[in-house]
Amino acid sequence: MFIVEQTTMIQLEGIEKELLKKLEQKDYSLGQLSLMSEKELAEDLEIEEELAALIIQKAQEQLGIHPYTAAEFLEIERRRGRITTGSEEFDSMLNGGIWTGEITELVGSFSSGKTQLCFQLCINVQLPKDLGGLEGKAFFIDTERTFSPQRIEEIASFRIKNTKKVLDNILVAPTSNTDIMLAYINQLEKIIPEENIKLVIIDSLAAHFRAEFIGKDRLVERQQKIMNLAEKLVEIAVDHDVAIVVTNQIIAAIDQFLYGSGEEPALGFAWAHRPQQRIFLRKSRGSARIARLFDSSRFPDREILFYVTEQGISDTSPASLEFY
Ligand code: GTP
Ligand code: MG
Repeated sequence: MFIVEQTTMIQLEGIEKELLKKLEQKDYSLGQLSLMSEKELAEDLEIEEELAALIIQKAQEQLGIHPYTAAEFLEIERRRGRITTGSEEFDSMLNGGIWTGEITELVGSFSSGKTQLCFQLCINVQLPKDLGGLEGKAFFIDTERTFSPQRIEEIASFRIKNTKKVLDNILVAPTSNTDIMLAYINQLEKIIPEENIKLVIIDSLAAHFRAEFIGKDRLVERQQKIMNLAEKLVEIAVDHDVAIVVTNQIIAAIDQFLYGSGEEPALGFAWAHRPQQRIFLRKSRGSARIARLFDSSRFPDREILFYVTEQGISDTSPASLEFY
C-alpha cells in the first residue's frame, strides 16, 4: 500500500534525464514500476527491454525490495528493541520483553491484568536502555475508556522521581467508535517519528468491532476491516520499528480443541494469525496472574506466574515485597 503511493522518480540514478521526464509524464509510481514486467514497460515507453529491466530494478532497489540472507535477517532481529514488562519471568518467556517490529497481543477475561500491563509498559518504554526501556514515548488508543493517569502515576512513583514527565510522554487517544480508532491509526505514521514513539497500545482492539458489527450480515464487512487494520499495524510495526501491543477479549470457543480451554480470543481468523506473539492472561490467587505464550513462531510455548501489585507488574506478591 505504502509502496504504491510513492511517486519520486528523481532518485532513479543512472537513468537518462530524457527518459526520466518520459516516466514522470506517464506518472508511474515507484511501486507500480517495481511490479511491471520488462515487456510491458518497454512497450509503453517505446524503449529496449534491457533498459526497461534496469528501470524496474532501480525502482525495486529504491524501495528496498530484495531478499535478505538469513544472516542479515538475524542482524536486523538483533537490532530490534525490547521493553521490559517489569517481571523477569515474563521477560524471559519472550526472550527479553515486548519486542519492537511486531505485534504482541494480550488476551484475557476481565481483571486478568491486560490494562495494568499496558500501563506498566507505557512507563517502562521511557526508561533508559540499560534498565529495560527504549527511551521513547507511548501512544495509547483507549477504546474502553479505562485509561487512568492516576494509576500510571502511582505505579511510576515507586521508581521514577519526575512522574509528571512520565505522563507527558504518553499520548492518549480516547475513541468511541471504529472510524475514530482507524483515524488515529492512520495518523500514527506521521506522529511516531515526530514524537519518538516506541510503543503503540490499543486497549482493546475488539471493543468497537464487537459493538458495531453485530449479526451475520455484517460479518464479512467486519472481517475485511479487521484484515485491513491488521495489515496496516504490521506495516507500522516493521517500518517504524515500534512495539505494538493490543489487548483482546475472550469469547466462548467455536472449536473446543483449538485453544484447549473452551475459550478463544475474539475477532476470529481475520485477526488470529497477525500478532507475532499471542499471550493469554488469566487470574490466579489474589494478585497472582498466569501468562501463557501460545503458538509463537519464535519462542516455545510457556506459562509463567506474575503479580499485579500496587507497584505495578512484578515477580513477587505484595506480601513478599513487604517482607523484604
Ligand atoms: P478488562 O479490561 O475488564 O477486560 O480487564 P483487564 O484484563 O484489563 O484487567 P486490569 O488490567 O484492569 O486488571 C484489573 C486488576 O488489576 C484488578 O483486579 C486488580 O487486581 C489490579 N489492580 C487494578 N488497579 C489496581 C491498583 O490500583 N492497585 C493494585 N494493587 N491493583 C490494581
Ligand atoms: Mg482492561
